[in-house]
Amino acid sequence: METKLLTTDDESLKIAAEILKDGGNVIFPTETVYGLGADALNPEAVKNIFEAKGRPADNPLIVHISSIDMLKDIVEEVPENAKQLVNKYWPGPLTVILKKCKNVPYETTAGLDTVAVRMPVNQVARRLIELADMPIAAPSANLSGKPSPTTAQHCIDDMVGRVDAIIEGEDCKYGVESTVVDLSGEKPILYRPGAVTLEELEEVLGEVEVSVSAKENETPKSPGLKYKHYSPNANVVILAGEWEQVEGFIKAKTDLSRIGMLVFDEFPKIDGVKCISLGSLKNPYDAMHKLFWALREMDKMGVMTVYAPEIADKGAWRAVRNRLYRAAGNEIINLSKGDAKKVLFVCTGNTCRSPMAEAIFNKICKEKNINAKAESAGVYADGSLVSTNAAEAIKEYNIDISERVSKNINKDMIENTDLILTMSASHKMALNYAFGDSDKIYTIAEYIGENQDVADPFGGSLEDYKSCRDMLYSMIEKVTEKI
Ligand code: TXA
Ligand code: MG
Repeated sequence: METKLLTTDDESLKIAAEILKDGGNVIFPTETVYGLGADALNPEAVKNIFEAKGRPADNPLIVHISSIDMLKDIVEEVPENAKQLVNKYWPGPLTVILKKCKNVPYETTAGLDTVAVRMPVNQVARRLIELADMPIAAPSANLSGKPSPTTAQHCIDDMVGRVDAIIEGEDCKYGVESTVVDLSGEKPILYRPGAVTLEELEEVLGEVEVSVSAKENETPKSPGLKYKHYSPNANVVILAGEWEQVEGFIKAKTDLSRIGMLVFDEFPKIDGVKCISLGSLKNPYDAMHKLFWALREMDKMGVMTVYAPEIADKGAWRAVRNRLYRAAGNEIINLSKGDAKKVLFVCTGNTCRSPMAEAIFNKICKEKNINAKAESAGVYADGSLVSTNAAEAIKEYNIDISERVSKNINKDMIENTDLILTMSASHKMALNYAFGDSDKIYTIAEYIGENQDVADPFGGSLEDYKSCRDMLYSMIEKVTEKI
């Protein structure tokens, strides 16, 4: 298919309008993101949109109008609260869902009896609707699943050869899609946060229910909620925590060359990492404007993983947070200090098995970024140094425990620990006898659903210690998976 590239002058828009009248499709700029439009009342034209985007047929489209007057051909009725809301925010980045009237084919609404309507403020979009003299159904003009296009070049990158024409307008002012609010039922429901915020909606509508995510296998109220969206080719991961922790996490990576980071102007740059700033932490509209562009830039730079900081869950930040978290498929690594889970390993003298277990556990948690910390103690410890062979065996992990002094367990340790893991059933019995039964005391094997005790290598050869160490390693790996 040949794709015409058009400019925004009236002559070009007339050509675009003719294409729409003939049942074709045209990509046009709006203040939110570029839209891929076709005649909303022509089922065949609408089907072509789904095909061009590779969009699932059960995801309904937004119908764009250029005057309030056009509403009467699209919706059955306009309830009082909808009138108030659109009077305040139209034309602009707000979509309302109302009961559809017969004119609107089910192809447009994906079989629903409601229809989403929006009046854009962008002059090119408005003029195109006027010239075509029809409501225009238009999803965002990206390939399904990709970040929405916010520049003409993004549309060209994704859609040349798949649509009849692309109008090359300005970069989109807002840069994320419109706020979508359902006013067709008893109470207003927010399906998609955008530049018109929840707080602003509630000023007009009173309480608004929020339904902006859908879990797998759940039927969402708004079909678009169930798809992973806005994803660049790179994997996106949210790092939740203070900036210092985020920085520490990134710097600990051995290969920074294919890592990208979305940051804010207030954060210092990390050397060797491809950073794109979303602007100032003080300006959510700047971040909104840059987000999809930034995700696409990361792909161009060949980044494999994009790390992004947490975004506030309030006001206009909600739109940024929602798009970013969906791009990440909700993959979030929690770096926040929180309280690390405390684990205590217990053996007899705290010179062989339990100090090795402590070191192994802390090593695995560090590598897997698990927020837990181990200590160790003995049921008959007497303050002696760790056994030379235990220290030797652990040295192979580049960990030095040679100066560790054994500790005897006491009541405080039991109380201040979340989980106590003993080497054998007899240690567990000893603890229960001395400190009372507790539901946080297990043998390691019991905790991971196995039944072997970890035998004491005391007095054995280095080889004996190493095989004890390896047994502990494979058991503790399973422990960390359970934590
Ligand atoms: O800013 C925007 O809204 C852009 C520009 C082009 O106007 N359009 C846009 O369309 O983002 P699209 O198709 O990418 O997103 C429409 C969203 C989808 O999540 C869809 O599920 C939801 O609106 N939607 C549409 N009609 C609906 C309905 N009747 N009931 C519930 N959700 C609906
Ligand atoms: Mg979209």
